[in-house]
Amino acid sequence: MNLSSPDVSPPDQALVSPAVQPCDHPQQNPLKIGIMASGTGSNFVAIADAISQQHLAAQIQLVIYNNPNAPVADRARERGIPAALLNHRDFSQREAFDQQIVDLLHTADVEWVVMVGWMRRVTHVLIDAFPDRIINIHPSLLPSFPGIRAIEQAIEYGVTISGCTVHIVRLEVDSGPILMQAAVPVHPEDTPTSLHHRIQVQEHDIIIQAIAQIAQPHTSHNLLTHRH
Ligand code: GAR
Repeated sequence: MNLSSPDVSPPDQALVSPAVQPCDHPQQNPLKIGIMASGTGSNFVAIADAISQQHLAAQIQLVIYNNPNAPVADRARERGIPAALLNHRDFSQREAFDQQIVDLLHTADVEWVVMVGWMRRVTHVLIDAFPDRIINIHPSLLPSFPGIRAIEQAIEYGVTISGCTVHIVRLEVDSGPILMQAAVPVHPEDTPTSLHHRIQVQEHDIIIQAIAQIAQPHTSHNLLTHRH
């Protein structure tokens, strides 16, 4: 499969972020996902709520987090979803850290990996274990502003439109085939906090739409050839 020009139709409607509709048979063969997160977990909550409201035919098998105080852990546990702390500071090599992640994800029977606020570079160990089955959400319109200062850089640059992107994860930071994007205006008075807030409203929509696209049981697009 060649994903350098992926057979994924960029859904035009993502630009206006329509409401997610309930799926027909959410409990039938739900997509088993593993979440990787480091932060507050608002995207995790959006995904978990969409699943519990039967808007998304998926099941969160496990949340992996790497900061001991990450609020996402409590948000998972209060929903009865297992949350495992893997602190990268305990590992001298990125590959060993990623191997532990892979072991946890395999043990949890995860089919697709969803990064929502995972702020670590990944290695081939993780990529090879889930080839073209890892997605990431990033707070910019990639390929503009990859990296950890995406929102600050958008403001510093003076862009008037920013947004967010869901993409397949490749080795290069915030690179890989784009699945969904949503645009948001940048106002002259915006601070990183206010812009991030506006972007996150859209993130919560497109991350759900991207997972829904992956979870479609009868679609023919290439990304689903890995579903078993
Ligand atoms: C999100 O805005 C996401 O785009 C960003 O971290 C935030 C996590 O928020 N990810 C990156 O910057 C990755 N390069 P959350 O914990 O509230 O979901």
